[in-house]
Amino acid sequence: MANNPYQDDRGNHDASITRTGGEGTVDPTRRSGPVTDAPGGPFLEGAGMTGGYGKSGPDILHDCTIAVEKGQIAVIVGPNGAGKSTAMKAVFGMLTLRAGHVRLDGHDISGLTPQDRVAQGMGFVPQTSNIFTSMSVEENLEMGAFLRRDDYSATMEQVYTLFPILHEKRRQPAGELSGGQRQQVAVGRALMTEPKVLMLDEPTAGVSPIVMDELFDRIIEVARTGISILMVEQNARQALEIADRGYVLVQGRNAFTGTGQELLADPEVRRSFLGG
Ligand SMILES: Nc1ncnc2c1ncn2[C@@H]1O[C@H](COP(=O)(O)OP(=O)(O)OP(=O)(O)O)[C@@H](O)[C@H]1O
Ligand SMILES: [Mg+2]
Repeated sequence: MANNPYQDDRGNHDASITRTGGEGTVDPTRRSGPVTDAPGGPFLEGAGMTGGYGKSGPDILHDCTIAVEKGQIAVIVGPNGAGKSTAMKAVFGMLTLRAGHVRLDGHDISGLTPQDRVAQGMGFVPQTSNIFTSMSVEENLEMGAFLRRDDYSATMEQVYTLFPILHEKRRQPAGELSGGQRQQVAVGRALMTEPKVLMLDEPTAGVSPIVMDELFDRIIEVARTGISILMVEQNARQALEIADRGYVLVQGRNAFTGTGQELLADPEVRRSFLGG
């Protein structure tokens, strides 16, 4: 795997997407709110997030905080309906928060639209409908690069190196692929913008334990290149094994927070959320 670029530290190549000239530049005065300095703290943090869906919907998140450091893996676990996906959407700007802030790389991005957050370095793979099934694998990856005006062929090669099966099936409609391969397409699509942070909502849903292990290995490889991973997982035990930081959410609130190992060792977390 010596020729795998995901094993090298790609340094600050991602700066290409935050360049200040040309198309694709974030204009914080239009559509989106301002970006202000918010130095210190974790690389990406949704802090004290409170809010729900729509203007009058009930709050789903209650003072919820999730964060990830540069190049680390943070995992969110919790029961069905706990608000894990809602917390991810809130960090990605798909929810109007009544309270709280989202900070990325020293900036308060709470006012940005999701598209502008992508331009700032966020990649998001939602829990459902995360690929275009009638498009080919390669077209899906091209869609992922929609914000880029530069040559993205090297990034596509990197995705194919990370997930060789996608290269083999690049001309096939993505909908014809297996569950695990579709998730690779979704992750690959998100990598096409060269994100600084990759947010994955249940990347291993519906795949076999072997495929899950392989996906986790690829995710670790991505993190080693310096990309932060914020991930929701139903396979809580296995996910916490690879987590630098873990969050247990219950009813939209932080119930337990710690390193992955701390949570795995916590008797109450084990009894209530990890099946003993
Ligand atoms: N689009 C929506 N509009 C209104 N309410 C929603 C919407 N999506 C989710 N909810 C509600 O928000 C709460 C949290 O849902 P969410 O999908 O965030 O949970 P989750 O922890 O991701 O669950 P799961 O493990 O099943 O994926 C639930 O009560 C759900 O009914
Ligand atoms: Mg969910």
